[in-house]
Amino acid sequence: MTDPEETKEQAAEQTVGQAAEEAPGQAASAEAEETPQASSDEAVLGEEIEAAEGTFQRIPLQSLRLDTYTDFNLYLKLANTNRYVLYRNANLLFTERHRAKLQENAVKHAYISAEDRMRYFRYLEGRLNEIVSDGSLTATETSRIVYECSTHLVREIIEKPWVGENIKRAEGLICNTVDHLLQGASHLKAMISIMSADYYTYTHSVNVCVFGVALGQRVGLSGQELNELGIGLLLHDVGKSEISKEILNKPGSLTPEEWQEMKTHPARGVEILKNTQQVGPNSLLVVGQHHEKCTGKGYPKALTSDEIHIYAKIASVADVFDALTTNRSYRKALESFPALRLMRKEMIRDFNPGLFRELIQMLGSREVLVSAPDREDYRSSRGRAAA
Ligand SMILES: [Fe+2]
Repeated sequence: MTDPEETKEQAAEQTVGQAAEEAPGQAASAEAEETPQASSDEAVLGEEIEAAEGTFQRIPLQSLRLDTYTDFNLYLKLANTNRYVLYRNANLLFTERHRAKLQENAVKHAYISAEDRMRYFRYLEGRLNEIVSDGSLTATETSRIVYECSTHLVREIIEKPWVGENIKRAEGLICNTVDHLLQGASHLKAMISIMSADYYTYTHSVNVCVFGVALGQRVGLSGQELNELGIGLLLHDVGKSEISKEILNKPGSLTPEEWQEMKTHPARGVEILKNTQQVGPNSLLVVGQHHEKCTGKGYPKALTSDEIHIYAKIASVADVFDALTTNRSYRKALESFPALRLMRKEMIRDFNPGLFRELIQMLGSREVLVSAPDREDYRSSRGRAAA
């Protein structure tokens, strides 16, 4: 009996072949951005689709794992246009042969429809362990995949924070993020290079998680502790899902009433997460205490230094640093060292001094410092650690 998957695969190849024969000049003349010299048996070939920005999302070729079924359509983009062509239908096996053909044609990226984002990220999440340990990927390639998976998941969590299954997914993701960062300073540097410079609650949550886990590692936390810390950091602002958008996105300063409302987000976050029964008590401490200060002037409980958990102290340093080095509606991002100077000058007593020192040493170390040439490679990156 014929395997239905095989039949689908053959049909797709035939379609590709036919399209190439019917429009022999298409592949070569189209000069696909990602397929400059696509050969006639390569798959650039469905109908061209003119698409508005945001209709398709670029994905790295390396994120497509060999011998897996991609449950989303794959597209390629034509050079210097906003036109896309269907390259492979969903539910076909992606093999070494397919990847090799794309690589032969210097294809580095494929595209997915924005509607398939959720399917794509679920596909990645299920294979993140394999991706993180895949030595053929560069630290930057892996970092991009880990970062995008994380921001996507946190976005989902903030939209529907009561869904326990999403919180469970965060656990798996944190284990892989920690494993990735434990591979060395070059991996932290790569992560910092690709972090979003624009502030959104979900990107901020992932950024704080990266800085915090790296700091935790430097102060000798175990793998298990880093996982607990990482979950808390990833979810530390989940209570903001209950704060109105008018307050969250207000360009000017908040009124006293609005500020009171804003200050409820740590307790609300703890409540939301407790209800899911998916988050351990130590991770919840990060959520509840991340705005406490060692001076005893933080919120919501004005705890003193001795009363604040080490995880929350780490969260506090990472949280403030990321907030200062990202663009906000009311001010532009600071570069790393001006941000550290400001923290030292105006807030030093809020932080645990040892942790603040570690943050400076970590960002200033030669392995992590993002140099000017590196930044040129990532025009959209923040270049955070550049002096
Ligand atoms: Fe917060």
